[in-house]
Amino acid sequence: MRCRKCGEKAAINMRQHKLALCAPHFLEWIPEQTERFIEKYHMFTSKEKILVAVSGGKNSLSLWDVLNRLGYNADGLYIGLGIDGGIAYSAKSQHLAESFAEAHGLHLLVHDVTQHEGASMPAAARLTQRGRGKPCSLCGVTKRHIMNSTALEGKYDVLATGHNLDDEAAILFGNTLNWSVGYLARQAPVLPASEDGLVRKAKPFCRLYERETAAYALLRGIEYIYEECPHAEGSTSIYHKELLNRMEADRPGVKLSFYLAFLRAKEMGTFAEGARSELNALRTCPRCGQPTTVPGLCTFCRTWESIRERQAGHDRND
Ligand code: AMP
Ligand code: FES
Ligand code: ZN
Ligand code: ZN
Repeated sequence: MRCRKCGEKAAINMRQHKLALCAPHFLEWIPEQTERFIEKYHMFTSKEKILVAVSGGKNSLSLWDVLNRLGYNADGLYIGLGIDGGIAYSAKSQHLAESFAEAHGLHLLVHDVTQHEGASMPAAARLTQRGRGKPCSLCGVTKRHIMNSTALEGKYDVLATGHNLDDEAAILFGNTLNWSVGYLARQAPVLPASEDGLVRKAKPFCRLYERETAAYALLRGIEYIYEECPHAEGSTSIYHKELLNRMEADRPGVKLSFYLAFLRAKEMGTFAEGARSELNALRTCPRCGQPTTVPGLCTFCRTWESIRERQAGHDRND
């Protein structure tokens, strides 16, 4: 296989694009594509302040690298979840995020959940009923809350995450299976800020395959954590990704067309009613001031309050 641009030996063949590229041309192609998506979906401009949520994985570190190379003004945010799982998952990923920041002269904010919220994610999950001890759903709520509050406090214009096409297609697949119209209405490459305190959110890699972001990290020499979160094993989203990959193997491009056809359907207003009713249902949490769909305290504040109460109970019993 030869590079389409220079005829040298190709480093990657992307069947879904009918495009093979050598390493140097692939390393140019990824930032070009990213820039194109940033502009197409009006994600942000080079004058704006960007906060990239960096997990230490291939997607978010590659995204930070690409935004930096494209000349965007992007700081990083690492959220320490206190997950060990026998592989020092959080410690290792934090180290990789910090090393990347240092090597590139970039600014990384670190928010440690054990320090700020009072318990590591696994310890907190054991203290709640949510997910029957699995930390993933509490972890999702907590990460979203911290990303939003950190972006607001630091006066960032936009929060960027490393979600790639495989993530987006799997989320879309799950939402479609359940016909979660509200979630479908809010799934987009960019979500505008809301007046009631949600910062703008952008996913500049939403049209790149995971295979492409992984190849970018490898060819660029970015050191990232290879392991998935140890709690992710057996999750529905991984199952959906596997199903989609099986389809992709038979029909290259099916993941991309599934996602792009959804975006086109949305442009035609297919989910407009769902979006309106979602927005109308938003209230403000009396504790943290962030918008929420539930009455009273938001899920973040309610759950962490009960975790602290149970923790205090445990301490008294000790
Ligand atoms: P995930 O939910 O693990 O698939 O991650 C999706 C995106 O959320 C990543 O690409 C990151 O941008 C962000 N993210 C996940 N975990 C963290 C973390 N611990 N700290 C900061 N950002 C994170
Ligand atoms: Fe949060 Fe796995 S439980 S990343
Ligand atoms: Zn080439
Ligand atoms: Zn709250």
